[in-house]
Amino acid sequence: MLLAHVLSCERIDLYAMYDAEVTPGDRTTFRDLVRERTKGKPVAYLVGMREFYSLDFEVNPSVLIPRPETEVLVSEAIHRLPVDAPSRFLDVGTGSGAIAIAIAHHRPHATGVAVDVSAAALEVARRNCTKHKLDERLTFVESDLFAGLAPEDRFDLIVSNPPYVREEEWTTLDPEVKNFEPRSALESGVDGLDLFRRLISESPNRIHPGGWLLAEFGINQVDLLRDLVARTELYENPLFVEDDSRKPRVLCVRVKS
Ligand SMILES: C[S@@+](CC[C@H](N)C(=O)[O-])C[C@H]1O[C@@H](n2cnc3c(N)ncnc32)[C@H](O)[C@@H]1O
Repeated sequence: MLLAHVLSCERIDLYAMYDAEVTPGDRTTFRDLVRERTKGKPVAYLVGMREFYSLDFEVNPSVLIPRPETEVLVSEAIHRLPVDAPSRFLDVGTGSGAIAIAIAHHRPHATGVAVDVSAAALEVARRNCTKHKLDERLTFVESDLFAGLAPEDRFDLIVSNPPYVREEEWTTLDPEVKNFEPRSALESGVDGLDLFRRLISESPNRIHPGGWLLAEFGINQVDLLRDLVARTELYENPLFVEDDSRKPRVLCVRVKS
């Protein structure tokens, strides 16, 4: 991947180019990338790109690298939005914009708003949006949860992959994650649910009756989330959807009509 990146070709092309000579400049660039990789820097940051939901996204160290598990969240969102009628959704903590862009790509009648507290992340998200030709249907707003939205703004569906790592869990994370990815994108208080608490309690004010809140969560958080949802008394019974490795991963909960 690193060599293909340096030579601006596809990986498959390298097999056909086995007798090509690499220029001294490309060799130096390649060597520098390999050196960075041996220090643990993720390949996605080195090549500035990551595939998610079969779409290419620009990434840099100000955004989380989109994860395969999050594709489950996107599928659940797409299936709840109408195929051929208008709908409106909100992506909370958009990072690279991957979730909002994948949803809008698959639901051509949907419009969306994507928020993040990080201005640097939003710059990346806006570039990804333009690259995927979705500027007319997606809006990016710097906002702490809903604070930057108009008070009357409502959505059919809210989707979020919020930070959900517990404070004490941080040191146990893979060095490739904790040494390179933004901590503010991953960690959220003692039990990892600081942002979730706000999301679950404030979302019913922002979702049309009968609309959905969908959010990705971490290991051992099902019972805590079930309890948070029940306490609001504003939602129907939650569903917990598993990821491909059979771990509960996505909370799907509908606001009472
Ligand atoms: C786990 S990352 C998810 C990024 C992207 N949605 C994805 O799935 O690849 C969480 C994102 O939430 C953002 N965030 C953290 N606290 C927030 C808040 N209070 N309001 C809005 N966004 C927040 C972070 O900056 C980060 O981009």
